[in-house]
Amino acid sequence: IVAFFQPKALAGRRVLVTAGPTFEAMDPIRGITNHSSGKMGFAIARAAREAGAQVTLVAGPVSLPTPRGVTRLDVQSARQMLQACEAGARQADVFIATAAVADWRPEVQADHKIKKDGSGQPPAVRFVENPDILATLAQGERARSGALYCVGFAAESENLVAHARAKRGRKGIPLLVGNIGPLAFGRDDNELLLVDEHGEQALPPGPKLVLARQLIAQIARRLRPAA
Ligand code: CTP
Ligand code: CA
Repeated sequence: IVAFFQPKALAGRRVLVTAGPTFEAMDPIRGITNHSSGKMGFAIARAAREAGAQVTLVAGPVSLPTPRGVTRLDVQSARQMLQACEAGARQADVFIATAAVADWRPEVQADHKIKKDGSGQPPAVRFVENPDILATLAQGERARSGALYCVGFAAESENLVAHARAKRGRKGIPLLVGNIGPLAFGRDDNELLLVDEHGEQALPPGPKLVLARQLIAQIARRLRPAA
């Protein structure tokens, strides 16, 4: 019998994960969101914890149980998610952005419920772009010095490799994970493609938790040695 004291792959590391959709309010009772379930991000938070990391999970509105041992911060909007992440990133060694952040929010959030005015004309809603949480953290000082390793996700409906490569460059991150899951009809499992500076590597298709564990192992291999 050999090799029992092998340390866990992320022992002593702090991992920050975003998951789920964001909700962008228009008035106190309405807003726009999307159909992200948050399952992949929650599976990744769980896998990181299993690998020995101290994990903070910043979650948009989802109905999922918090993985055991994970610190969870619930937020609604992209701007709230950014604020929580900027605080968390000051400590973190790894940032994994799985959230389906709403790209736009209504320019104005009314203080009271918007009422029909009797004219038959719907209100005009103007949108403004939300901050890019991943790009913001990736451009921050800790990421640029190599202290914070940033991982992005991209769900694409076509040209996964080309889009994933371009997105990795645009966001300025070392690792981009392409996701062919939710948009590929008839598939129960996800399929992940890792894009880094060396090229592409596909993970074998499987359930989200299995993929999450494999992804965490791949991220751990890419980290610089712990200080
Ligand atoms: N992301 C983010 N903040 C945003 C938008 C995206 O942190 N405001 C992160 C997502 O969590 C994901 C990555 O950026 O890890 C890619 O998200 P995606 O929506 O695929 O990319 P966008 O840059 O928004 O481009 P588009 O939606 O136009 O393809
Ligand atoms: Ca987007």
